[in-house]
Amino acid sequence: MDHQRQGAYLRAMGIVPWRLASSPAQTSPTDHDKLAAAAGPVNDPVDVSGVSPDIPEPASLQQAPANDVAGMDWHALDQTVAGCTRCALSQGRTQTVFGVGDRQARLMVIGEAPGAEEDRRGEPFVGRAGGLLDNMLLAMGQPRGQVFIANIVKCRPPGNRDPVGEEAAACAPYLNRQIELVAPEVILAVGRIAAQRLLETDEAVGRLRGRMHELSLPGGERRVPLVVTYHPAYLLRTPEHKARAWEDLKLAMSVLGGAV
Ligand code: URA
Repeated sequence: MDHQRQGAYLRAMGIVPWRLASSPAQTSPTDHDKLAAAAGPVNDPVDVSGVSPDIPEPASLQQAPANDVAGMDWHALDQTVAGCTRCALSQGRTQTVFGVGDRQARLMVIGEAPGAEEDRRGEPFVGRAGGLLDNMLLAMGQPRGQVFIANIVKCRPPGNRDPVGEEAAACAPYLNRQIELVAPEVILAVGRIAAQRLLETDEAVGRLRGRMHELSLPGGERRVPLVVTYHPAYLLRTPEHKARAWEDLKLAMSVLGGAV
């Protein structure tokens, strides 16, 4: 992607992209600070007219309690999720939010849980945070339709609370199977819940972001590079961290071989 276009998307994210010509290696911590996000609306319409990462030891996903899910194809998985009653979240949902996008995507984005709008529309990240996520993906040269987007849980928690451990565990076999089927080259975990559940840690996002992790699926045969970044809803509240998020996105892009 040319820098002019990327710059337009970064401005839409709320980042002043005056250092785009620099390689990540040339960008000093001071420069990160200078890249600090411009305040202002992040969902404005975008006018686009005009590292070899160190990979540490893998974490493993929670073991799937339901072996039957492990061999499912997309259709069976979709149907099973739509009728799922494995946890109490099923009682409050309008519909399940399975996930959307390219089922052979190179990049998979994993968030936390559907919110009210997602529950109503059956699609992840369609609210205001979703608008920012779309702009983040565009800045990466990965339009929404070219990535696969899913959540740790497929049903909306009441009052938009965080999903609890049992709910995430009940849903884990579905997400594991989605990751296996998509077979992404890299996963972007957005926000604390996604990062902590996937990496089985209670470390803060601020400590997990900025470096490469590796996810090992149950069975251990497949390992997927994983990058953690801030949740777009958090970035809407804390725009000064958008420059750090952009560093994370560039790290994920490095796996995809994307020019930055
Ligand atoms: N936040 C998430 O983590 N996922 C969604 O689908 C929407 C908002």
